[in-house]
Amino acid sequence: MCGIVGYTGYREAYPILIKGLHRLEYRGYDSAGVATLGEDGKLKIYKAVGKVVNLEQQAEGNDHSGTLGIAHTRWATHGAPNERNAHPHLSQSGKLTLVHNGIIENAGILRQQLSSKGYTFKSDTDSEVMLQLIEYTREKHKRDLASSVRAALKKIIGAYAIALIDEDSPDTIIVARKSSPLAIGIGENNSEYFIASDASPIAGYTNRIVYLEDDQIAVCRRGEELQIMDFNAMRVEVDAKEIDLDVSMLDKGGFPHFMAREIFDQPAVLRECMRGRLLTAHRRIVLSAVSGHREDLIGARRFIMVSCGTSWHAALIGKQLIEEYCRIPVEVAYASEFRYSNPVVGPGDVVFAISQSGETADTLSAIQLAKERGALIFGIVNAVGSSIARASDTGVYIHVGPEIGVASTKAFTGQTTVFAMLALALGREKGTVDEKTYEAVFSELENIPNKIQSILDRSDEIKAIASAYAGKRNVLYLGRGMNYPVALEGALKLKEISYIHAEGYPAAEMKHGPIALIDEDMPVVFLANSCGQYEKILSNMQEVISRGGDVIAVVTEGDTRVKEIVDKVIEIPDTIDSLVPLLSVIPMQLLAYHIAVAKGLDVDQPRNLAKSVTVE
Ligand code: F6R
Repeated sequence: MCGIVGYTGYREAYPILIKGLHRLEYRGYDSAGVATLGEDGKLKIYKAVGKVVNLEQQAEGNDHSGTLGIAHTRWATHGAPNERNAHPHLSQSGKLTLVHNGIIENAGILRQQLSSKGYTFKSDTDSEVMLQLIEYTREKHKRDLASSVRAALKKIIGAYAIALIDEDSPDTIIVARKSSPLAIGIGENNSEYFIASDASPIAGYTNRIVYLEDDQIAVCRRGEELQIMDFNAMRVEVDAKEIDLDVSMLDKGGFPHFMAREIFDQPAVLRECMRGRLLTAHRRIVLSAVSGHREDLIGARRFIMVSCGTSWHAALIGKQLIEEYCRIPVEVAYASEFRYSNPVVGPGDVVFAISQSGETADTLSAIQLAKERGALIFGIVNAVGSSIARASDTGVYIHVGPEIGVASTKAFTGQTTVFAMLALALGREKGTVDEKTYEAVFSELENIPNKIQSILDRSDEIKAIASAYAGKRNVLYLGRGMNYPVALEGALKLKEISYIHAEGYPAAEMKHGPIALIDEDMPVVFLANSCGQYEKILSNMQEVISRGGDVIAVVTEGDTRVKEIVDKVIEIPDTIDSLVPLLSVIPMQLLAYHIAVAKGLDVDQPRNLAKSVTVE
């Protein structure tokens, strides 16, 4: 999704803005632009289609001086991805320039109204409409810019985060938000302000960050205190948080892609996720959200999980873990479907929001609805201070560090690890998990990072298998029980980054339809590592082989029966059934990664995809 960066202070803005755009590249975009305001009091705007480096080439050798500026990466919604539609947009008078993230739903009607008042438009975007409306409001009512922004935004229906500068105010950026994230970094003594869609462009400059709330406008003027107000012009207290962002986590750490680093980082980040929570010496699991809401959780009527994509797959695993160890009924819903289904939800329900970015618009609206209806909201989020984290009543951060590659990997294993700890801790409180099982799962959780490492050490074997599949058009993924969500996740990873059509199914469902697809051109990935239903999965595999299907099987180390019938076998260590996804997903991630690399594709920023999906 679009990314916003802004700077006002005493340093040259351009390098800060470009560095910030690079840090936001992971969100996915198709064009980029930058505006700076130099000492001559004139705005300089550069735009380019494609990558941020194209923008740098455009600006090279040209004047981009100034200590005030805004910049943007655009993910097209209204209008094709071309230079005309790239941001920053310039107002009719040429005085105001704006960057916008989000969608304006009434842009069509506003455009007509403004056209009838003599406004012309240079782009097809809803963002330019918003800017012209701000300018029109200022000129009509002769108000200051912040008041004009406030009045104009009251007429706008939709989602937005904006940053706006005025040629006549060389030290000020005005920002506003509704349903789209925006962070403001505050420099020492308010000497400078950093604006960004998330904290990553701000990391390394300051740790003091304010996350703007919905329906708030902020005036960031260098050398002056930050002013935040709501849409009724009431001043809001500035609540700056100290956020520790590890800058070293924002690079590839020697790997060719962020996705590779994130796959290979999993042993370390899962240890981090469990640190201070899985207390080895005391055999206790400490999650403050569980102890703090013990009665609400134990006494809950049911749990409902809302999420999207990979986080939805993790929720399917969470359901199995919680039902097994806590005996609490769990429903899993796509956030987008839940939101618009008039759900039966209310007091006594606990709604879990699972999200890596913490900014997914569908998930955020789903929990807002559930909250209005009286449910307790429990967030399982990676991005600290994100909108979903803030909208939750309680929750657990997965703490796996920033995930930059568009395809989610370490967030999935982090979410699954949190679900395992949560289910065990709550099951113990509730008395639904016996001591022997508790101890066995607890000990195995401690071993999981080493076991994941042993799979990663075999990455080259998986790469060798992958090389034969780069030319395929379709792949089927099959698994049962705990491996069914892993089959879905394997298929999602492959389609996202290799553009090969892939479907995940519960293995037993194959005979109810997908078996018609099986022939020698249909590779089938079987998750056949021991997971409770080994004999059954073996029969499903025979059904595929006897129809000429090409099988790749994930098996438990030492398995001999699958090897007798299949040549392409990926061995993984044995583990407890309930933790199987933490291991079996690793070959799925590596297979997709190596196939995409073999196809020469942009693994970290696959076409059409955005990392943080901030529109519904
Ligand atoms: C898959 C992927 C997406 C996200 C989905 C939810 O690799 O990245 O499917 O999982 O957009 O995002 P979050 O978890 O940020 O809410």
